[in-house]
Amino acid sequence: MEIIILPDAAEVGRVAGAKIASIVAGRPQAVIGLATGSSPQGIYAELARRVQAGSLSFAEARGFALDEYVGIPADHPESYANVIAREVAAPLGFDPSRVRVPDGRAADLAAAAKEYDRAIAEAGGIDVQILGIGSNGHIGFNEPTSSFASRTRIKTLAPKTRQDNARFFDSPDQVPTHCMTQGLGTILEARELVLVAQGAGKADAVAAAVEGPLSAFVPGSALQLHEHATVIVDEAAASGLR
Ligand code: F6R
Repeated sequence: MEIIILPDAAEVGRVAGAKIASIVAGRPQAVIGLATGSSPQGIYAELARRVQAGSLSFAEARGFALDEYVGIPADHPESYANVIAREVAAPLGFDPSRVRVPDGRAADLAAAAKEYDRAIAEAGGIDVQILGIGSNGHIGFNEPTSSFASRTRIKTLAPKTRQDNARFFDSPDQVPTHCMTQGLGTILEARELVLVAQGAGKADAVAAAVEGPLSAFVPGSALQLHEHATVIVDEAAASGLR
């Protein structure tokens, strides 16, 4: 695993964005795993800047989001389908028909989850998966005790995750209780993983994921099993590392 420690959050976005940009420049049809939340926003800003400057294009790329809330209304601004469309696909110039988000409103959620993994495989697999990490160590919405072999499926959100994500909703009780998330096994199949974290609130999770034992209690520790994982953090998020 490669660990890159940078002075601040802005630099994390720039360096991680440059890494994704170089993958897409070398392979315009790249399949990109897309995280939501605050952590990857600097990456998307850096990529959008390059798209605007005309030095990078996502027109031929494909995207697969990591996760989605279950049962969130289709028009809710915080559904990950809407967040990805608004904050990623539009500014980066993806063809909307080439970007998928798990269907958290499917009548048969288990079948939709299976189909999502099939769609990733049919696209040739994910070239680079962008990841954040939850303060409880989750990646995607694979909460503590998730199997390292897990596939895309329905999960119950941990109380800590619902509390952390309450900032995106009008009140904490509006945060959905369930989600559909790529599994740890699904994530580990991506050819490259790039995890970003910023701020002291992520320091314990980063240290446990990077230096702690492999443990289902720290889903982020699954990165230790991957041949090409890069963790890009600011000094505050690195403050728990030895
Ligand atoms: C988002 C996701 C989550 C977040 C994590 C950190 O698609 O899968 O694992 O990356 O909860 O969230 P932020 O970045 O908002 O701190």
